[in-house]
Amino acid sequence: MRRDTGKDNTLVLNCGNLFFREGEVEERKGTVIFQALAAMGTDVIAPGRYDLVFGIDFLGKLATAHGIALAAANLRGPGGPLPGFTSHALITRGGKRILITGIMAPRLENLLPPGCRLADPEAEITTIRQQVPHDCFILVVHGMEDAEIDHLGRQIVDLDLLVIGDRPGIFNRHIGELPRPLVIGNNSRGGQQVAWLDLAVNGGGMTTSGPRTMRLAANPKREDGIVAAAVADYEHWRGEFFRQQPQPEEQRQEIATLNAYLGAGWCSRCHAEINAGWSTTAHARAFAVLRQMKREHDPECVACHVTGGFPPPITGSFQSPETSPRMLNVQCEACHGPAGRHVMNPDNNPLEPVTENTCRRCHTPATDPTFDFAADRGLVDHRRSTR
Ligand code: HEC
Ligand code: HEC
Ligand code: HEC
Ligand code: HEC
Repeated sequence: MRRDTGKDNTLVLNCGNLFFREGEVEERKGTVIFQALAAMGTDVIAPGRYDLVFGIDFLGKLATAHGIALAAANLRGPGGPLPGFTSHALITRGGKRILITGIMAPRLENLLPPGCRLADPEAEITTIRQQVPHDCFILVVHGMEDAEIDHLGRQIVDLDLLVIGDRPGIFNRHIGELPRPLVIGNNSRGGQQVAWLDLAVNGGGMTTSGPRTMRLAANPKREDGIVAAAVADYEHWRGEFFRQQPQPEEQRQEIATLNAYLGAGWCSRCHAEINAGWSTTAHARAFAVLRQMKREHDPECVACHVTGGFPPPITGSFQSPETSPRMLNVQCEACHGPAGRHVMNPDNNPLEPVTENTCRRCHTPATDPTFDFAADRGLVDHRRSTR
């Protein structure tokens, strides 16, 4: 990853939506994210609706401290422009002036902190385009429907690149019938992939080649020591933070139902062979890795590495490693559902069929981008495999 901002012809743009609401933990994470973005040479962030969850000061201060432009053309605070934000960024690369800005659809206004307003995006873009001389124009949009995006692409005649900031995926299409090669792209895949475009000056105009994409290393240590150290510090702090939180009393918040999670020990009484097969799979070891990483109390991690970790809580649901030791790892009931009724009378209480959605709860595009139900199912279906 590049660190020497301005010394080469690369421009690094991030599409925001970096934050969720997790109180103290998330604020600390914000600082690490900005350290990492700065180390990667990020020039501009086009913030999205999640970025203002800590009020309107937090993001502005982080960006200012790390020298990153927060470009939000139509965002206004109670007293006008927001401190630390800018309506646009103008960055020179290869002797060309690149204008970058971000907009949020007015429909996102009620999701922003009180006092924030979203002005008409098209009017703001028009003003900026007319007032700021530039050679190339990049726009990031948040909260827009396809039809609105295509409309903008046709309306703004000098647009070179339009990025849909809040849609996970990766660059996807050229709008062909326009008099110029406009590329419309999605945001990255949860930070696991980046995409880039090469812009070449060609006579008076610009041509784009690409976009191309690159998968980021799973282990940042090899890539960047500064980022790796900041992340390791944060993860250590986070592990300790949740370890020190009072752990829930067993079954305190559960919803009383006739059904319950029991744990794989029960199933082995009648399905011993299946249990033996399952116990050799990665699912049967899924919690160990969280312990190794000292993240075993972290609500951001546990649900998918345990059984009964997703809401609604019912009798036997996972609560914490101390109070629910029987529910560690991805056991039978993570796929088959709670089996309390089933064991009482198996013939009258069949379990729900296991579908693709069962797996997708945990094998998400972020956690397992190459997950393929048809292929991977064979590895867990006890009829086809003894793994
Ligand atoms: C409760 C969450 C959860 C559910 C539901 C789940 N998995 Fe997994 N799966 C995991 C976790 C976590 C791992 C990684 C375990 C490890 O290696 O530590 C994993 C690993 C795997 C692996 C091994 C991957 C490898 O590279 O060796 C396969 C295959 C797999 N799952 C397939 C499936 C299929 C198919 C389904 C649905 C029928 C499914 N999983 C349902 C959480 C889940
Ligand atoms: C949405 C569900 C989900 C969440 C949340 C989740 N994981 Fe996982 N995790 C998985 C799945 C599914 C796999 C298996 C992926 C594969 O096979 O490629 C996995 C695999 C892993 C692996 C690789 C396991 C191995 O044995 O190689 C590690 C390490 C890991 N997760 C750690 C974490 C940490 C740390 C967190 C919290 C920051 C976390 N996970 C949160 C679903 C999840
Ligand atoms: C990763 C998901 C997953 C896990 C974990 C899992 N199963 Fe299954 N199981 C399946 C799938 C998929 C099938 C195929 C039937 C279906 O689609 O419903 C299946 C089928 C079964 C069947 C019916 C077998 C047959 O021959 O018809 C039994 C019984 C069963 N599982 C028991 C268990 C037990 C006991 C455990 C724990 C030791 C377990 N399963 C763990 C996914 C899982
Ligand atoms: C008291 C014995 C007993 C226990 C304990 C038991 N099962 Fe079963 N299970 C059965 C019987 C009997 C069947 C029906 C077999 C058949 O129809 O071929 C069955 C069938 C199943 C099936 C496939 C058909 C269906 O109902 O969907 C699944 C999946 C299953 N069991 C999962 C589990 C899981 C998970 C556990 C542990 C939580 C468990 N069973 C515990 C006796 C038991």
